[in-house]
Amino acid sequence: MVDLKVESRGVKRSVLECVGHTPLVSLDRLFPEPGVQVMSKMELMNPGGSMKDRTARYMIQQGMREGKIRPGSHLIESSSGNLGIAVAMAARVLGLSFTCVVDPKTTATHIRILRRLGAGVEMVREPDKNGGYLDSRIRRVKELLHTIPDSFWINQYANENNWKAHYHGTAAEMADQLDRPVDVFFAAVSTTGSLLGCARRLREHFPSIRVVAVDAVGSVLFGGPPGKRELPGIGASRVPELFSPEEIDEVVHVDDREAARGCRELLEREGIFAGGSSGSVVAAIRKTLGKLPRPCRILTLFPDRGDRYLDLVYNDDWVDRLAAGQEEERTSIMGERV
Ligand SMILES: Cc1ncc(COP(=O)(O)O)c(C=O)c1O
Repeated sequence: MVDLKVESRGVKRSVLECVGHTPLVSLDRLFPEPGVQVMSKMELMNPGGSMKDRTARYMIQQGMREGKIRPGSHLIESSSGNLGIAVAMAARVLGLSFTCVVDPKTTATHIRILRRLGAGVEMVREPDKNGGYLDSRIRRVKELLHTIPDSFWINQYANENNWKAHYHGTAAEMADQLDRPVDVFFAAVSTTGSLLGCARRLREHFPSIRVVAVDAVGSVLFGGPPGKRELPGIGASRVPELFSPEEIDEVVHVDDREAARGCRELLEREGIFAGGSSGSVVAAIRKTLGKLPRPCRILTLFPDRGDRYLDLVYNDDWVDRLAAGQEEERTSIMGERV
């Protein structure tokens, strides 16, 4: 019989081969200012719904190459959602088992997708000293490593293959897609892997490029005080081992409300249905645009799609609740001053 399971031009062998090769889109309706061009890499078009497909695939493939992940290994990772979904997708293809440690900020949709993909889901409920859950999640990961045989912690916070996925993937593609130099690169940060991998590659091609991190108000990454923030995917309550602040020229902090406004603007003007951190990037570019030189070519990433945020940035009640919370905070601060 003819073996149909052989290489065939134009046919991928698995969904993992569909990761990457995303287009760059010019946001001319959102940023019509003369002398400005903003281009975004549509990472939301990855098959698992986010740029974390690249990170997961690369970290797992390298782990297998190095013999740290073997047939029968049980993968463990802490994730606010997207990396978890990407690892779960890869684990399905590769026949591995996977447990994802999440926290109450992970959206219900993320959790349902994780379960559908066959992942075990462990929820931590105890916030850490910075009001986030990262320390609690990592503590739980370490407990699981002791109890699950042949388990392997991918550890996106310290794994060098996190940034390398973007150095060899996302940024290599962007350098190929661009026919003229870019002046500024904006990226939302959490582990900082995507920003660092892209910055390292882009600087080889465009040595004078300015690298701007977009962080959440309330994140401790750049030394600010910890605070309440609800959007997953952006910000951190613990500084990751990968963090390398000397490679970042500037940081712009964006709060959840500004991120929601950015998402909605992006949808209205460009028809792009993106997640919270894409809205944060849009808001950060808006805040910074006035002081950037002209002409100015700006590059950014849209990390994930909007579907997983229907109960957050695309929910009017959620936005109203944030507004009410901020007003309450403002009046109590004013009250203290009187
Ligand atoms: C939607 C989204 N945006 C941005 C980021 C930040 O990426 P990184 O962890 O590479 O800093 C993440 C990370 O989880 C994410 O899920």
